[in-house]
Amino acid sequence: MALFSHRVQQIGTENAFKIGPYINEVAATGLKVIRCNLGEPDFPLPAHIREEVKRQLDADMTHYVDPQGLPALREAIAAEMGARRGLAITPDRVVVFPGGKPPIGFSQEVYCDPGDEVIYPSPGFPIYESFTNYLGLTPVPLHLDERKGFAFNGDDLAPLITPRTKLIILNFPSNPTGGVATQEQLESIAGAILAKARRDVRVYSDEIYENILFDGSVHHSIASVPGLAERTIIASGASKSYSWTGGRIGWAVLPTAAEAAMFKTLNINYFSCISGYNQLGAKLAIESPESRPVIARMVSAFQERRDVVVAALNAIDGVTCQVPKGAFYVFPNIGGLCERLGAIERCEALPADLRAKTSPATLVQMFLLFRYGVATLDRRAFGVIGAAGRHFLRISVATALEDLEEGMERIRRASQDRAGFDAFVSEGRRLS
Ligand SMILES: Cc1ncc(COP(=O)(O)O)c(C=O)c1O
Repeated sequence: MALFSHRVQQIGTENAFKIGPYINEVAATGLKVIRCNLGEPDFPLPAHIREEVKRQLDADMTHYVDPQGLPALREAIAAEMGARRGLAITPDRVVVFPGGKPPIGFSQEVYCDPGDEVIYPSPGFPIYESFTNYLGLTPVPLHLDERKGFAFNGDDLAPLITPRTKLIILNFPSNPTGGVATQEQLESIAGAILAKARRDVRVYSDEIYENILFDGSVHHSIASVPGLAERTIIASGASKSYSWTGGRIGWAVLPTAAEAAMFKTLNINYFSCISGYNQLGAKLAIESPESRPVIARMVSAFQERRDVVVAALNAIDGVTCQVPKGAFYVFPNIGGLCERLGAIERCEALPADLRAKTSPATLVQMFLLFRYGVATLDRRAFGVIGAAGRHFLRISVATALEDLEEGMERIRRASQDRAGFDAFVSEGRRLS
């Protein structure tokens, strides 16, 4: 008998967190690390929300509360999510979670049995693929094509929908590509779902970046397309919109109250409830007129940094970078850079067991971190299946502008350091 279950041996991770110890190791050598790895706004929690959390602590909101989420917060979520999407949402369909992450795995647990197929975007948030494998479901990655600006429509989705499909995960604005769906695109995707998917197939619409939009882009939800609200789980949360990743408040709107009750049961089984003081902070964040201007300032800083970073990357020989319309990531193609550094041959020459855990972009990612002190993430961090031969990095722009400028300059220098790259790979210490 093995110590670890077969199931847990299938689980993946979120490398943005996993490389934390590597960053500490590099920082301990005295090299300042430019952290472009984490998807975490670098702004403080807005003062009005902070004050409300403190007030609620003082009011003794420190006990067990409703496992589905405080009714007052669920009312605020139902009203706001419904108004923005033109939908009538009742609070009994809302469930609150410790962040936007848990409803991903919970949806897979609630709706899918082993062997059921889960369609998810790739590159995409790593937890989609991780949980699919963990639960013994069948992963069906929808590969996003760089030539189409990482966008897709119903024609791309339709061939993946089969009688075994149970869950279709969408994520707009997208991590890591920054893609924002147009209304036409969502209608086309919805058309494919209505035409091909069984009535009990659920769409998981991860809208956690709904407020981080550039160049006047507008957020649309697939739930607003007629016929889709009945099938869609709309997920969002406080982490990105209010620069509050540590508050651990996320939420989902379920198609029915009965489905919400299943998620509530999972909440009870896993963590009972979420801190009441933070939930009331989130209620204020959603309802306060002070929140919109704070979000607008944060978004305009992200947009300015995006412009600087995209221009700097495109100026590097061997790197091409599209201009994202939302979220706070850029996702450059580093194929040319991998070739220039010899990363593709070096990767091919690695022993088979190591080669299975790495890629040319991973070698570049590690080289940038350990030799140049720039923390990025490789393509494999956003879905392993089908990542081979796709050479990309994700760079988070949720870092100070001066640091990003310095980081891009370091990447430029690294891109010319073939000897340094060779020595790094030959040393063989951190290659996956
Ligand atoms: C697409 C996507 N969904 C969900 C989450 C989870 O957010 P939270 O920190 O609220 O759990 C993230 C965080 O990076 C994300 O990028």
